[in-house]
Amino acid sequence: MGNNLLQGKKGIIFGALDKNSIAWKVAEEVYAEGGRFVLTNAPAAVRMGSIKSLAKELDCPLMAADATNEEDLNKLFDLAESEYGKIDFVLHSIGMSPNVRKKRGYTNLHYKFLGKTYDISAISFHKIMQLLYKRDLMNEWGSILALSYIAAQRTFSDYNDMAEAKALLESIARSFGYHYGKKAKVRVNTISQSPTQTTAGTGVKGFDKMYSYAELLSPLGNATAEDCAKYCVMMFSDYTRRITMQNLYSDGGFSNMGISKELLDALSLE
Ligand code: NAI
Repeated sequence: MGNNLLQGKKGIIFGALDKNSIAWKVAEEVYAEGGRFVLTNAPAAVRMGSIKSLAKELDCPLMAADATNEEDLNKLFDLAESEYGKIDFVLHSIGMSPNVRKKRGYTNLHYKFLGKTYDISAISFHKIMQLLYKRDLMNEWGSILALSYIAAQRTFSDYNDMAEAKALLESIARSFGYHYGKKAKVRVNTISQSPTQTTAGTGVKGFDKMYSYAELLSPLGNATAEDCAKYCVMMFSDYTRRITMQNLYSDGGFSNMGISKELLDALSLE
């Protein structure tokens, strides 16, 4: 049961692939709070994934769109506009690195793949916002979010070229946050989430150990996908109207830790 925090608000949610996806949980939480939205994912993900069942469960429109393709995005925004008129919130929950997929390590990057990593995982965020901005599709006091990871600030040995993609994503949030704030009082933020067991997350080499390490270091433990979804609801709600151009941590305290007793104890057992 929700608290109607998003009653009357309309939006678009990118990136729900399966039940584990962070965007899937966000869709469920937003719906429970009264928000309504168009669901979207890459064409292959819509064909093969279980997103259709989510759209059915939540009775919402679904349209395939490659987030790197402006034509696809315009069609998606046509649909959203015909359903709702102007919208109030957008979630960008998209990440993919062909270098990670093809097991090309950081000192052996394929540069065409690197371009794709940036295009899919970061520049798509700019494309989405630029089209929304030009079409004037966001209501005043609207809220736009993308999901990030702390490898944008600190080095994680196997996060590969996704580290640069996240740094770029966070920078785009700051830069666009200025322009969209001035134009229509729209806020733009990134949420930096703990390691989470999803398709994208577990694709990172050594994910299980990274997850355990973060769990031992964070005083509140790793933030779950549900925790992240609730944070997104708050950021879409009217309670956060003047929070913009921030990278916000949903990480159980990880980002301010150095060492914890729990981690030391675990290391001394080895
Ligand atoms: P996921 O694999 O469920 O979601 C990634 C989504 O990106 C998928 O739905 C996929 O279809 C979509 N996608 C890929 N290429 C696309 C394209 N060209 N156009 C449109 N959509 C495309 O995994 P998860 O973890 O829910 O990922 C969501 C976001 O959260 C990503 O930005 C990820 O980097 C971020 N994140 C994930 C963490 C984790 O440990 N799982 C930690 C911190 C951030």
